Amino acid sequence: MTTTPPVLSGPAIREQFLRFFADRQHQILPSASLVPEDPTVLLTIAGMLPFKPIFLGQKPAEFLRATTSQKCIRTNDIENVGRTARHHTFFEMLGNFSFGDYFKSQAIAWAWELSTQVFQLPPERLVVSVFEEDDEAFAIWRDEIGIPAHRIQRMGADDNFWVSGPTGPCGPCSEIYYDFHPELGDEKLDLEDDSRFIEFYNLVFMQYNRDMGENLTPLEKKNIDTGMGLERMAQILQQVPNNYETDLIFPIIQTAAGIAGIDYGQADEKTKISLKVIGDHVRAVVHMIADGISASNLGRGYVLRRLIRRVVRHGRLLGIEGEFTTKVAATAIDLAQPVYPNVLERQTLINQELQREEAAFLKTLERGEKLLADLMADGVKEIAGVDAFTLYDTFGFPLELTQEIAEEKGITVDVEGFKKAMQEQQERSKAAHETIDLTVQESLDQLANRIHPTEFLGYTDVQSSAVVKAVLVAGALVEEGKAGQTVQIVLDQTPFYGESGGQIGDKGFLNGDNLLIRIEDVKRESGVFIHFGRVERGVVQVGDTVTATIDRACRRRAQANHTATHLLQSALKKVVDEGISQAGSLVDFNRLRFDFNSPRAVTTEELQQIEDLINQWIAEAHQTEVAVMPIADAKAKGAIAMFGEKYGAEVRVIDVPGVSLELCVGTHVANTAEIGLFK
Ligand code: SER
Repeated sequence: MTTTPPVLSGPAIREQFLRFFADRQHQILPSASLVPEDPTVLLTIAGMLPFKPIFLGQKPAEFLRATTSQKCIRTNDIENVGRTARHHTFFEMLGNFSFGDYFKSQAIAWAWELSTQVFQLPPERLVVSVFEEDDEAFAIWRDEIGIPAHRIQRMGADDNFWVSGPTGPCGPCSEIYYDFHPELGDEKLDLEDDSRFIEFYNLVFMQYNRDMGENLTPLEKKNIDTGMGLERMAQILQQVPNNYETDLIFPIIQTAAGIAGIDYGQADEKTKISLKVIGDHVRAVVHMIADGISASNLGRGYVLRRLIRRVVRHGRLLGIEGEFTTKVAATAIDLAQPVYPNVLERQTLINQELQREEAAFLKTLERGEKLLADLMADGVKEIAGVDAFTLYDTFGFPLELTQEIAEEKGITVDVEGFKKAMQEQQERSKAAHETIDLTVQESLDQLANRIHPTEFLGYTDVQSSAVVKAVLVAGALVEEGKAGQTVQIVLDQTPFYGESGGQIGDKGFLNGDNLLIRIEDVKRESGVFIHFGRVERGVVQVGDTVTATIDRACRRRAQANHTATHLLQSALKKVVDEGISQAGSLVDFNRLRFDFNSPRAVTTEELQQIEDLINQWIAEAHQTEVAVMPIADAKAKGAIAMFGEKYGAEVRVIDVPGVSLELCVGTHVANTAEIGLFK
């Protein structure tokens, strides 16, 4: 009879892991942001990511040994969240790292000691795996640790060769598994059987760099990168059936269940899945917003939007009416704040972001409900697949929600038709730019070595020559784009403004030898400007030199609206309340929108005063001044910064002397008189 280890809370596991390695000369470092400095990935996906430059020898190591509990997000398996026992978007990875210091034998010995002495996992419940060619690791486990050979399994590169991404530091790894059912005996140790085994500790013997061509070059120094899933260890030590029921997540689930009036213990499988999705995603969302991400249609902003929408949808499936996400988030913030105080500091921002996204999405869902009611008119027996798909695609109705509502009226849904419509749409959307942003991102990730941040010339120039660095068609990298195709173009330098700071991207043209591309929009991701357009004439190839010209009339209107946005913020503070702060903004060619937090509503009279004041500033024809300075200097001068926004060490400051002083990356008029009139 084997024993079970003593119960330990999530925070205690984190603490004991870090302490164990601190006692062995590891520096405890705080978790890095979920927004990685590494431009090749969207989000921090592993504990080793912040150390990648050290592993690659690009940056000297300040310490030879480090240990962390790192916040991570992975979304590649998002559909499995809540359905399996241990898939997550957000999770914490505990790790110990050696930068050219100790290697295989020591890493294995400590992993074993920690697992069996500190966490007191019974050795007879542990099975390990090694990379099939790694005889050295096999021998260490068998001879130095004393594990019976049949409990050391050799596995292929898919399982036991770890790479941080398509390229980067990598090496063979060795994993430790916990056996929930040792009574089943040693005859058939199938580590893939996750009802019996859980992999909780991965030791990577990082000794190569992999390039784009999948070639391995030995690293100058051999390193250790390990990862222990905090939630997994908590599942083992708290003896619960899945990660979601650990103390790291379950309180969030209980809050959601309370709002929905559900008793988790009595709930059916489907209900539990929705609750687990909410428990998982809300943690992710809270940390993402605290780390400065805001919802959008591009890159990580899109990941955030998708997660929030999934939370809202699953809330609906549970029968929750109206807004609820901030209440659930409050529990997630409570759980996070002892270790991640930034989450509590940013609670207001988190709530604002959630409220805005949730309200907007609920409106869409409501319109969908109206449509659905029309579709279920008297006498209808089945909802057509194409209609169910419209509900899904345009109004955010998951198929199950449509089915559920229809079922109440005894109406079925044509699921086959739905799938067919979905497939057709996927084929169509390959050509449409709005829906491929994530694909574009993935393609750019592949190019990370070749593409550098685009140099922006547009503060001074409206036209420049540029070299084509990448061409994408339907989100995929291609060598050339032809007349009639919708393309995305990356240039080495550009006068086109890429959407940011609320200001939308420029329009214009790229011209070359018998080549004309009309640019409709420009976005930026990790400093790379992506020009969205259509080839009107000729062929564009990687390496071509083109002339990039922006539409000056559009740009002039955007600048007028942008400077006016700054004046509006000053006027609001003067007329309404000094404490007003910006929450977001949109600077379009034809209009501006300014989102702000205010202790009270603005009266009609005040609106008039604001308008008059801004028009006065316009008439006074103030010259605007732009300066780049260290952030501390800008703050000392009293420049306004938007809370939650990420700024570099050097910032750009827009000064309308005596009227407004703001940090801003956008483009502005040279004189307020250019604005003309504010309404
Ligand atoms: N980098 C490895 C992993 O993510 C070990 O930390 O599994």
